Amino acid sequence: MNIRDYIVQKKKEILVGRLTSDKFQDFFEKNENQLQTMLTYYECAIMQIETKFNVLNQEFSLSREYSPIETIKSRLKTMDSLIEKVNRYEIPLSVESIERNIEDIAGIRVICGFPEDIYTVADCFLQQDDVTLVDCKDYIRNPKENGYRSLHLIVTVPIFLEHEKRDMKVEVQLRTIAMDFWASLEHKLKYKKELPPELNDRLVGELTECATISADLDMRMQSIRRQLAGSQSEIDEAVDSLEWM
Ligand code: GTP
Ligand code: MG
Repeated sequence: MNIRDYIVQKKKEILVGRLTSDKFQDFFEKNENQLQTMLTYYECAIMQIETKFNVLNQEFSLSREYSPIETIKSRLKTMDSLIEKVNRYEIPLSVESIERNIEDIAGIRVICGFPEDIYTVADCFLQQDDVTLVDCKDYIRNPKENGYRSLHLIVTVPIFLEHEKRDMKVEVQLRTIAMDFWASLEHKLKYKKELPPELNDRLVGELTECATISADLDMRMQSIRRQLAGSQSEIDEAVDSLEWM
C-alpha cells in the first residue's frame, strides 16, 4: 500500500463526488511519511508471522507426515476500512493512537483441514518466545449467534529494524476450510445491502443452519481422520513386528 497513491486516488474520488472528509484528507497529507512507515512495519510483521506458520507446517509434514495448514492468507487493512473503524470507535486521529487502538491493521488467516489442527498449530505458535498473546477469542468453542466460528488471536511480534526492535500487533484468525467457506458466504450476504428484508432474514436463518451442519461435518471428518490414523498405526505396528520375525 502506497500512501501517495492513496492520496491521489482520494483526490480523484473527490472529483467524482465520493468524498472522504476534509479531516481525513488533512490527516493523510500531514502524516504521509509516518503512515507509510507504519504500514511498511505491519507488512514486515505479516512476513514474520507467515514465515512462522510456514516453518511449523514444514516441520509437521516431516514429523507427522501430514500438513495441518492448507492455506495462509494475509492482508493489510485498506485505508477505507481503517477510516471506517476510526470513525466507528471514535479513535483519536493520530498515527500513535491508530497503532494502539486498531488491532487488525495486519491480518493473517490460517486455514487448516481439521478443527483439532487449529489448536495444535495455535499452541505451537503461541509457545514461541517472541510471540506475545494480547487477546484471544475462541469462536469455535463459543460460536457467534449467527454461527460464525474461528479462533482469533491478537499477538505482538518483534520486527528487527536497522536501529531498533519494534513490537507489532497482528490479528491471526485460524479456521478450517469449512469455517472459511461459511464465513466468506456470510460476508457476501452482510454486504448485500439491497436485498428485500424478508429474503435477507431467510438467508441469515439458512446460513445459521448451514453453520451447524458445517460444524458437524468438521467433527465427522475429523473422526474419520482419527480412525484412519489409528488403523494406520496398527498396520505400521504389525509391519514392524513382521520385520523383527
Ligand atoms: P471489529 O471492530 O470488527 O474488529 O470487532 P471485534 O474486535 O469485536 O472483532 P472480532 O474479533 O469479533 O472479529 C474481527 C474479524 O473477524 C472481522 O473483521 C471478520 O474478519 C471476522 N468476523 C468476526 N465475526 C464475523 C462474522 O460474523 N462473519 C464473518 N464473515 N466474519 C466475522
Ligand atoms: Mg477486532
